Amino acid sequence: MEALQLKDLYKIYKEGDIETVALRGASMTVQPGEFVAITGRSGAGKSTLLNIIGGLSLPSAGRVMINGSDIAKMSEGERTTFRRQHIGVVYQADNLIPFLTALENVMLSMQLNGQSNCKSAAQVLLAEIGLKERANHRPGMLSGGERQRVAIAVALANHPSLLLADELTGELDTATADRMMDLLGGLNSDHHLTLIVVTHNKSVAARANRQIYIMDGKLTESTVSARSNDR
Ligand SMILES: Nc1ncnc2c1ncn2[C@@H]1O[C@H](COP(=O)(O)OP(=O)(O)O)[C@@H](O)[C@H]1O
Ligand SMILES: [Mg+2]
Repeated sequence: MEALQLKDLYKIYKEGDIETVALRGASMTVQPGEFVAITGRSGAGKSTLLNIIGGLSLPSAGRVMINGSDIAKMSEGERTTFRRQHIGVVYQADNLIPFLTALENVMLSMQLNGQSNCKSAAQVLLAEIGLKERANHRPGMLSGGERQRVAIAVALANHPSLLLADELTGELDTATADRMMDLLGGLNSDHHLTLIVVTHNKSVAARANRQIYIMDGKLTESTVSARSNDR
C-alpha cells in the first residue's frame, strides 16, 4: 500500500475578494520508506502542500490518501486521531509549548495519543536525539538547533510511519543541519520511516531518493540531469 497518494489537489485561499490558487492539480505517489525532498521558490505552495498531507488543512479539491485512508473524508476528530497515530510534523517555526520543558513537550504528545509510561519513553527518545542533558530545559533556554531537535522528538513521539518536515534546516548552521539530516536519514533507512522534507538546501535535497519541484502549485519530479542543469 502506498504511504501517500495525492490526486489532482487544488487549494484556493480566499481573503475577501482576493483568491490565491496555491495548488493547482498537484499529484504524487510516495511508497513506504521513501525519502522525498520538495523544493521550490518562496510562495510556490510547499507549506500548503505539507499542511494538507499532514491533515492540518483540507484541499479545495482532490484526494489525499495516507496509508490507504482518505483523510479528507474523515470527521475532524477522526482526522486528529489518525494524524497522531500515523504522521509526525516538524513545522517551519517550531511549535513547542514555551512553559513546558523539553521532556514535558515530548510527554504531552504521547499523552494526547493515550500512551502510558510516557516519562521513560520520552527520556529514551530525548537521549537518542542527543538531548539527555537538556530534558528539563524550557524551549526559551535552548538553542535553535536544540529546539529543532526537541520538535523532531515531539514529532516522533508516537512512532509515526510518515514524517513531514518544513524547512527544518533552514535556520540551522551547516554542521547542525547535517547532524539533523543524519538523524532523519538513519530513521529512514533503519526504521523505514517515510520522509517528506521541504528544503531549499541542496545538500539536504541530494540525500533524498526523489526530488519534487513545485512551481505555481504544480509538481514535477526532477531527474538528476535536470538538477545539474539547474546549477
Ligand atoms: N492562510 C493563507 N491565506 C491566504 N493565502 C495564503 C495562505 N497561506 C499561504 N497563502 C498563499 O499561498 C501561496 C503559497 O504559500 P505557501 O504554501 O506558504 O508557499 P511556500 O511554503 O512555498 O513559500 C502564496 O501565494 C501564499 O501567499
Ligand atoms: Mg513555506
